[in-house]
Amino acid sequence: MRVIVTRKIPGNGIKLLEDAGFEVIVSSHDRALERTELLNFIKGADGVLGQLYEKVDEQYLEAAGPQLKIVANFAVGTDNFDLPALSSHNVIGTNTPDVLTEAVAEHTFSLIMTITRRIVEADKLARTQPSSFGPEVLLGMELKGKTLGVLGLGRIGSRVAEIGKAMGMDVVYYDIKQNPEFEQKVGAQFKATPDELLSTSDVVSVHVPLLDSTKHLINSERLKLMKPTAYLVNTSRGPVVAEAELVEALKNKVIAGAALDVGETEPKWAEGLVDLSNVVLTPHIASATLEARCAMGELAAKNIIEVLSGRSPLTSVQAK
Ligand code: GLV
Repeated sequence: MRVIVTRKIPGNGIKLLEDAGFEVIVSSHDRALERTELLNFIKGADGVLGQLYEKVDEQYLEAAGPQLKIVANFAVGTDNFDLPALSSHNVIGTNTPDVLTEAVAEHTFSLIMTITRRIVEADKLARTQPSSFGPEVLLGMELKGKTLGVLGLGRIGSRVAEIGKAMGMDVVYYDIKQNPEFEQKVGAQFKATPDELLSTSDVVSVHVPLLDSTKHLINSERLKLMKPTAYLVNTSRGPVVAEAELVEALKNKVIAGAALDVGETEPKWAEGLVDLSNVVLTPHIASATLEARCAMGELAAKNIIEVLSGRSPLTSVQAK
């Protein structure tokens, strides 16, 4: 059986696939494949180990051919999957939950501390004017005693909440499902609506999946509910935030700042975003620790091995 890997990955994932006896073909380009390149490359695959920026839709499934049994996403998010199309082609979709939770939560906190302590501005100043100490130079915001609003209490949101608590923050959260057990364990408080969370938080961290119902959840109206001293952090999916509206809000000091790992139209940021000093940007690297990326590759490979051996996948994204 043939497994196509659309981009080189770290760790043992590829070796696991080879040791399982599959013909494994790894893209030789160290870049995202163009759509037509991708569609040609996956032709004849029984399994594909793919990337989050590759849309797995009708056209993709047709191009791969009727022998395709599994697309293993090298990501926890699966908004690139057209699930009804996968099901109608009898193709299993899998993702990589759990193994990247710590990496993403830690990156989220790196962003929170980088934006609230103005580290990027400070780094620039330190390089160009090392003797810039002054009582009022680059004042930031302390986190202890401030309110962290976690929007979406899945695995990653929960871990971010725990870290916030350990930093001495008051933690509030919104989720479609209240979680009294978590509230008890971590000392977090439930807010019944996103609006309530936005208006009470000093740092809002977004952890919802991208769905029709969460697209542009953070728009100009909701940004206006935030405190003018508050910060927005997004490590989930770009389109959850209406990015052009965020740029306007940041320009007009509606909120104090924002830190984004994801963009609405990756790999391009909304016009004007990169010119703002009250913004910190990273290029979708929240899961980019060696530990997480190796484990993601291995989990994706194991999903392929299970399915191509006629067994159930470990982490299917389809209802059982
Ligand atoms: C990264 O964004 C992921 O979904 O794993």
